Amino acid sequence: GTTLGASAAEKGRYFGTAVAANRLSDSAYTTILNREFNQVTPENEMKIDATEPQQNQFSYGAADRIVSHARANGMQVRGHTLAWHAQQPPWMQSMSGTALRNAMTNHITQVATHFRGQVAWWDVVNEAFADGSSGARRDSNLQRTGNDWIEVAFRAADAADPNAQLCYNDYNIDNWNDAKTQAVYRMVQDFKQRGVPIDCVGLQSHFTGGSNYPSNYRTTLSSFAALGVDVHITELDIRNAPADAYRNVTNDCLAVARCKGITVWGIRDSDSWRSGESPLLFTGSGQKKPAYDAVLAALNSG
Ligand code: G3I
Repeated sequence: GTTLGASAAEKGRYFGTAVAANRLSDSAYTTILNREFNQVTPENEMKIDATEPQQNQFSYGAADRIVSHARANGMQVRGHTLAWHAQQPPWMQSMSGTALRNAMTNHITQVATHFRGQVAWWDVVNEAFADGSSGARRDSNLQRTGNDWIEVAFRAADAADPNAQLCYNDYNIDNWNDAKTQAVYRMVQDFKQRGVPIDCVGLQSHFTGGSNYPSNYRTTLSSFAALGVDVHITELDIRNAPADAYRNVTNDCLAVARCKGITVWGIRDSDSWRSGESPLLFTGSGQKKPAYDAVLAALNSG
């Protein structure tokens, strides 16, 4: 193939990007988006603060614009994200206990129902584990409603959209030896054993380059996959975009049958949440970087 999406498709995978609704009017942006990518993840537009700014008042305009652009251009959509400690609207931030639990499940039910049939994968729960050596859950208002909040979220999403693939998504779960990776692994193993509906794990993969790209990343991907879930690289970006690291990540995904695809967290460096680090595949003026060539070559090799 001559583009990321077409080349990934030849390997039975997708190649996607985060998309911001307010950039869809930038033709330099949409030219690259439509040419290169066959999957999109709304960068902010499906988060709780965006979709339910006031309790029980849902707002889907920006997310719907991305979904309709995706559908018109044959791109699959990853929904991001139904339950998260961050980017909660003020009304939810101030809630706790049963009221918050009920608000969470209502939010999931309403949003997953609205997008039923249009979202291939949902990040049902995002970033629920703590960093560091504890292997514990992250403290949050959602966690304080009870340790079962994650499985309750997955069951609510499954009931609302039985055909969507339901993912747990997190960062710093790339190194197989990290306590956080092991803790997420044990949760997924437990969910599979008890029949909690989980289909996939998303590894965000925000790398800082060099030693931050773990040499055992492929082991992590294949270990999660061996639990009977798909794995997705959901928010890839790498400080200074070294071609080697991008090539290695691509090859690691291709080496694991259940690694379904790669999503980069933005198109041009100027679109990135860490734009000062130039971590993406295209320059601010839309030129392909060496990392782009490395990824494309990896997708087309073998
Ligand atoms: O839209 C408002 C704008 O109206 C306002 O003037 C401006 C002033 O700060 O803020 C704008 O909103 C910002 C929004 O991005 C859109 O640009 C928010 O402040 C800013 O917090 C928000 O940042 C997003 C961040 O998540 C928030 O948690 C980033 O774009 C987004 O890339 C980032 O994505 C996360 C994933 O969801 C989860 N994994 C980590 C990843 C990177 O942090």
